[in-house]
Amino acid sequence: MTILNKVISGKIINPPPIWLMRQAGRYLPEYRQIRAESGSFLNLCYSPKLASKVTLQPIDRFDFDAAIIFADILLIIENLGFKLDFNEKKGPVIENCLINKKINILYKEVKKSPLINIGETISLTRGKLDKNKSLIGFCGAPWTVSTYIINGGTTNSYEKCIKWAHDNYEYFMEMINLLVEISSEYLIMQVEAGADIIKIFDTWSGVLNKNDFDNWVIKPTYQIVKNVKKKFPDVKIIGFPKNAGYFYEDYIKETQVDAVAIDPDLDMLYCKNTLQKLTVIQGNVSPEVLKLGGDTMKNDIIKTLDTFSDYSFIMGLGHGVLKDTPINHVSEFVDIVRKYKRK
Ligand code: CP3
Repeated sequence: MTILNKVISGKIINPPPIWLMRQAGRYLPEYRQIRAESGSFLNLCYSPKLASKVTLQPIDRFDFDAAIIFADILLIIENLGFKLDFNEKKGPVIENCLINKKINILYKEVKKSPLINIGETISLTRGKLDKNKSLIGFCGAPWTVSTYIINGGTTNSYEKCIKWAHDNYEYFMEMINLLVEISSEYLIMQVEAGADIIKIFDTWSGVLNKNDFDNWVIKPTYQIVKNVKKKFPDVKIIGFPKNAGYFYEDYIKETQVDAVAIDPDLDMLYCKNTLQKLTVIQGNVSPEVLKLGGDTMKNDIIKTLDTFSDYSFIMGLGHGVLKDTPINHVSEFVDIVRKYKRK
């Protein structure tokens, strides 16, 4: 069993294992080089050899305890008939998004689509990765993915997506249900290819009220967990309902994920006294503090370890590594954690 799997199964390991969201990416020169060679972000995601190299770069450099497969949560929308592009300045762009007009949603099977390449990246990477390290597969949660499909990209007015969902409720729920089906199929393919942990990213879960959170976050996530576990009962699943605040508790109890990633906005003592009693947690140093470095970073890392190391815990960030983060801050982060002695 990998070290991360042991921790998610309830073992307390000190110092705890480490991996960071967005640990592969633009803050690394070796990533920027392969990214330039690949021509575009999508080419890179769909090229198993290059994507596998990029997945392993942060492991070679920092010796993290897990690799997360290099891909993107939005690739899957092409299987439903939406056209995805990544713009250098704007980020993701969905050409036929729903804000102006509904389209007929398709369902292209995962194994008959370009997503099959992600399976190939996983098998290539598993063959090269140390046996003690986990390979993390992932998908976006239906609500978060649907915000991009509705709006056509990242937005700063999520109320428009919420309104659209309520105004077009039947169509919206049909889309959520299709995303549940296809995401389950995609995750099962990833586990078959060699992923031993799955993460479900719900980056925009924090904008919803409790009722919508229950219907659009908790229920679809529970369905995905159920579908994956039916096929692979032992695979471990980490949920990330970012900015869900006090809704984290119901999310943990009702989705039946095996662990949750916590964002930096959550109070650490609340996490320790409440969430850590319910499940295994991963988190939650702020990516801004990692970028800042120095004593602020050092103190936050120690405080995080002091708070969470009485129970099973995975050390990480509350969100992804920021693009201009100095590399030596990441090495220092790993160094501080590995030298940590539990009080
Ligand atoms: O190391 C890893 O975490 C693995 C790869 C990974 C990427 N995206 C690579 C990526 C993962 C797990 C994701 C998840 C993802 N993608 C999320 C959920 C997690 C989160 O960050 O909240 C979301 C919302 C997306 C959608 C997405 N992809 C956006 C909004 C953007 C543009 C913003 C940005 O950071 O540029 C992307 C692009 C993207 N995904 C990049 C990378 C490395 C940058 C593209 C590039 O290199 O040109």
